[in-house]
Amino acid sequence: MDVASYDLLSTAVLLLNDDGCVEHANTAAEELFSISRRQLTGQPVHRLFGSDEALAERLPDAIAGRFGILRQDLVVDRRGERVAVSLAVVPLDKQPWSALVEVRLIENHILLGRHQQLSKELTAQRESLRNLAHEVKNPLGGIRGAAQLLEAELSNDALDEYTGVIIAEADRLAGLIDRLIAPQGETLQQSVFNIHEICERVHTLVKAEFPKIGLTRDYDASVPDVKGDFARLLQALLNITRNAAQALNETPSIETPRITVRTRIGRQLLLATHQAKLAIVVSVLDNGPGVPAGLRDKLFHPLVTGRASGTGLGLSLAQEFVQQHGGIVEFDTLAGQTEFRVILPLEPL
Ligand SMILES: Nc1ncnc2c1ncn2[C@@H]1O[C@H](COP(=O)(O)OP(=O)(O)O)[C@@H](O)[C@H]1O
Ligand SMILES: [Mg+2]
Repeated sequence: MDVASYDLLSTAVLLLNDDGCVEHANTAAEELFSISRRQLTGQPVHRLFGSDEALAERLPDAIAGRFGILRQDLVVDRRGERVAVSLAVVPLDKQPWSALVEVRLIENHILLGRHQQLSKELTAQRESLRNLAHEVKNPLGGIRGAAQLLEAELSNDALDEYTGVIIAEADRLAGLIDRLIAPQGETLQQSVFNIHEICERVHTLVKAEFPKIGLTRDYDASVPDVKGDFARLLQALLNITRNAAQALNETPSIETPRITVRTRIGRQLLLATHQAKLAIVVSVLDNGPGVPAGLRDKLFHPLVTGRASGTGLGLSLAQEFVQQHGGIVEFDTLAGQTEFRVILPLEPL
């Protein structure tokens, strides 16, 4: 397409050069941002979106095509009015421009509705799972107790093996049930800490468990302290990072398995139930095979797993814990480039 045909589109389109600066803005873009084409031209595109550092950080990769099409919802300032937009960064090949950014206005209530709906669905699902878990827990105790009595009565070693299996499997199930019931306590053990304390703990744990994976820290030291439940946020980030490590471990064809934990400050981000002026974005990036396509829509639902030995509880718990802090967990995935983001709103302490 040439420049003139972009002008005919009713969707706002910005054409970018290698550096992520606007080379051309169409008429719809002038209207959306309500500034002239001349003012738009030459601007680094992320500035148009409220100097969102997390976005600025991902743009070079998006322009280089490392995300396929990068999509993000965010809030921009327009003549002092705040509007929600949905952004798609499409890398271009064999064209005078490096990438195209399409910007669509979204009705804020539709977007919040979408996130709220998901949040409600997850809560309902977890609720019924917990009920089920409670139902299973009692008889399980009975089965285990009876197997123990039986074992004590039996003098035959060959039969002990069977009671051993019953007891071990009952214990395994009980462990699973406990994990399903665990996050019920809604009260957070709040304290003030720096998010990097959590990142460092995750680093140590994952390094010990997966010594062959290259772990990189990319921290923004200026990220302010958060107030929250240290143990739950640690668990959330650990679950996400271990998933990345497991995905890498199960793909031996990857020569240099790599995980990067990155922290940044993000602005005007849409969360589960509201938008945050200021938020901490912790990204866990890996160069593994990506989330299997069939799982993507339901990834945060409990019991959804792509691994033979998986429980499918890790991400559902991570999402629940982060949402208890008013935040959200999101992801983008492609073969060789997967990113999970924990977004934690920062309120004035
Ligand atoms: N970084 C990742 N790369 C590829 N697949 C992933 C990644 N993170 C999560 N997944 C997929 O999501 C599934 C669900 O994860 P999770 O809820 O933690 O349950 P589990 O780890 O027990 O399977 C995993 O089984 C895996 O298929
Ligand atoms: Mg997991």
